[in-house]
Amino acid sequence: MSEKQTTPSPGEQEISRRELFTKLGVASLGVAAAGMLAFTYRFLSPNVLYEASPVVNAGKPESYPVDSVTLDVNSAIYLVHVPEGFFSLNAICTHLGCMTAWKPEAGIIACPCHGSRFSREGQKLAGPAPKPLSWLKTWISDDGDIMVDRSATIQPFEFLRI
Ligand code: FES
Repeated sequence: MSEKQTTPSPGEQEISRRELFTKLGVASLGVAAAGMLAFTYRFLSPNVLYEASPVVNAGKPESYPVDSVTLDVNSAIYLVHVPEGFFSLNAICTHLGCMTAWKPEAGIIACPCHGSRFSREGQKLAGPAPKPLSWLKTWISDDGDIMVDRSATIQPFEFLRI
């Protein structure tokens, strides 16, 4: 038995080549349409920067014993409770913006970057920091929580009395 090999005629080869190019054309049109849709969506979506609210809920006053200094690392604030009342400080060093740390053994706030030191009330004690730590607007919400606005500073020694 002899096996008969069939070779496609020139017309059949041309048809398959045509189909191939048709499919490639349709695929490239699909890619172009998807790209156009992506650019259109990006163009029509609002060009805004979504930032977290500057207002922080620090919780109930009972959570802070008298003579305590509590650092909230996420919002970079200190919540301080002294006999005169509550206040909050910006925990970012005024020199080059490092996060400071409360040192309870020394009773100071210290910056690990270049050695600035601040009192518990944020006053500069030593180091290259040009300004004291800012006091932040602090109030009690209707629900009885301590609220801090990181975007609003107040004069030092304006205690929140409860
Ligand atoms: S950033 Fe705090 S001392 Fe330089």
